[in-house]
Amino acid sequence: MSKKTYNIAVLPGDGTGPEVVNEGLKVLKTAASKFDFTLHFETFDFGGDRYLRTGEVLPESASDELRKFDSIFLGAIGHPDVKPGILEKGILLKLRFDLDQYINLRPIKLYPGVPTPLKDKGPEHIDYVVVRENTGGLYTGIGGFTMKGTPHEVAVQSMVYNRYQVERCLRFAFDYTRKRNKRNTLALCGKTNVLTYVYDLWERAFHEIGAKDYPDIKREYFHVDATCMWMVKNPEWFDVIVTGNMFGDIITDLGAITQGGMGIAAGGNINPSGVSMFEPIGGSAPKYTGKNVINPLASIACGGMMLEHLGEDKAAAAIESSIMNVTANKLKGMGAGQMGYTTVEVGDLVAGGI
Ligand code: IPM
Ligand code: MN
Repeated sequence: MSKKTYNIAVLPGDGTGPEVVNEGLKVLKTAASKFDFTLHFETFDFGGDRYLRTGEVLPESASDELRKFDSIFLGAIGHPDVKPGILEKGILLKLRFDLDQYINLRPIKLYPGVPTPLKDKGPEHIDYVVVRENTGGLYTGIGGFTMKGTPHEVAVQSMVYNRYQVERCLRFAFDYTRKRNKRNTLALCGKTNVLTYVYDLWERAFHEIGAKDYPDIKREYFHVDATCMWMVKNPEWFDVIVTGNMFGDIITDLGAITQGGMGIAAGGNINPSGVSMFEPIGGSAPKYTGKNVINPLASIACGGMMLEHLGEDKAAAAIESSIMNVTANKLKGMGAGQMGYTTVEVGDLVAGGI
């Protein structure tokens, strides 16, 4: 039988994106040769520099071209010379929407040796996953101004969800909780006391689907504000949290800082029946560009998530255990310039441990 081959689109992006992606690719290549599959990489230059050079955020053909790949490996989007919003909306959000990556999967896991700002908490307390709905809600961009620039100006931005979007996200979260098989508990994070339409829909669907098709999964509900509180005070309560797009964006930054910060937090934009895109939660950190000081572990961990998604479970597990070995025994800190090693050296350490 010939070796399994995966075609991967690589989007290094802006700032320190290319540096962390290099280390991610290094580790992926090592994993591929060790676990006997082939990875083909094709690089695309989408990002701020290309936009400044050509005036085009993303070529017309980009989404169709990317659809042909098995997966997408992204560094970071965001350029100091480009007004905030243009690249984020024109590249990141556009790809999430065009490729219907309706899940944003964000594991919040404290690796051994990684400092957390949560007092008296360790790896045994911080290990859960946020399933963020990724193509609906406030991110659909429905809204507008009227009487703009006058004292009576009105601005509207709507939180839009239909049953279909809510249901497919919840089903993914239930399935994921079952597959994870840790505490078999799914928590819905909402705001049913104020957002009495949107989160009413979420809550009804949650209990209907859960009672009918997932009786083995325990259901819990938390308002988003309380969720934040418990993520700090009792993170060990959580197994899997499912929530809408905006709340998911916010709580995953909180989660990321509890797992050691942006240097280590990985995520995946998932289309379960299409092309998914893996990217660190953090940004492009432009001030560290080219200095060989940025922490590449988030990108490396994204590589592990990507392999797991592609079905290469053993390789994915090997990457994660090598990361854990490096955080436990080597790195001094997680911040840029605080690791005690360069970006490239950290990549070498993880690759060497596979
Ligand atoms: C994230 C980011 C993006 C988001 C921005 C850059 C558009 O914050 O991936 O969490 O809000 O989804
Ligand atoms: Mn965010």
